[in-house]
Amino acid sequence: MSITSLPGGTWKLGDSTVTRFGYGAMQLAGPWVMGPPKDHEGALGVLREAIELGVTHIDTSGAYGPHVTNELIREALHPYPGSLFIATKVGANRDAQGGWPTARRPEDLRKQVHENLQVLGVETLDLVNMRMGNAEGPEPGSLAEAFGTLVELQQEGLIRHLGVSNVTAEQVAEARAIAPIVGVQNLYNLAYRHDDELIDRLAADNIAYVPFFPLGGFSPLQSEALSAVAARLQSTPISVALAWLLQRSPNILLIAGTSNVAHLRDNAVGAGLALSGDDIAELDRIGR
Ligand SMILES: NC(=O)c1ccc[n+]([C@@H]2O[C@H](COP(=O)([O-])OP(=O)(O)OC[C@H]3O[C@@H](n4cnc5c(N)ncnc54)[C@H](OP(=O)(O)O)[C@@H]3O)[C@@H](O)[C@H]2O)c1
Repeated sequence: MSITSLPGGTWKLGDSTVTRFGYGAMQLAGPWVMGPPKDHEGALGVLREAIELGVTHIDTSGAYGPHVTNELIREALHPYPGSLFIATKVGANRDAQGGWPTARRPEDLRKQVHENLQVLGVETLDLVNMRMGNAEGPEPGSLAEAFGTLVELQQEGLIRHLGVSNVTAEQVAEARAIAPIVGVQNLYNLAYRHDDELIDRLAADNIAYVPFFPLGGFSPLQSEALSAVAARLQSTPISVALAWLLQRSPNILLIAGTSNVAHLRDNAVGAGLALSGDDIAELDRIGR
């Protein structure tokens, strides 16, 4: 499998072309995204397999571990292939209990950007998402000060592209009025479709939408309709959920997570499943 055969083809993310089938590295850290992986070599193997398959978009954050997924990415893949686009995010730290306290003062964000640069071993970050809200989701309120700090860091040459994450549609509009963004990363999947309108508006403006928890994250997607469609197509609910996202809109980029090489390979094939209009109509009823 290669860039030409990964399902979904490619998307122009700022000045780079990335495979729509990407990889989310969060699950490579230890339990609850804290500490090292149980299987260090296995984690390196998943990252190397993603590159072998032709994946050119990896999503990470300094908060994963903290720093663990960035360290693994560097160990597995540095010096990076020229085609690889690594997206990271800032806006939270970790505490000793594994919580995600927000850290969005200008000095916090500067520190996080410099830590990402140092741990990943790069001079410029391809994409930094300004993550807002909290674990329950987006919170209303201005992102201008936080996003403005990332704009300054971009002007200093430390960031190529900007994005926003865990945000409301109003916050997306606010960010876009301050500086161009290449993507929005929010919670979205077959069963959680709050962003349907936003996705369509972003698609019209060639801005990527990157769903996090595409498979339900820590609560795997479960639905009778999903299982029924999967059984009819002699496939799996996971493949159907990924294929549905790729068919939902051309600006959707997949960053499904896995810590398992076999699952990664299954997903790279399964996401290419062809869904008929009837399949999609049945699946659409899950989230509406
Ligand atoms: N911006 C944000 O606030 C935010 C928040 C959360 C996540 N994210 C990003 O979104 C990415 C994706 O989220 P996620 O990884 O948490 O959730 P996810 O992609 O919805 O689901 C990952 C889970 O699915 C399982 N899985 C994947 N493929 C499978 C297969 N073929 N068969 C069986 N199980 C399979 C994985 O287990 P195995 O390891 O056993 O395969 C893992 O437990 C993360 O990596 C992260 O980069 C961003």
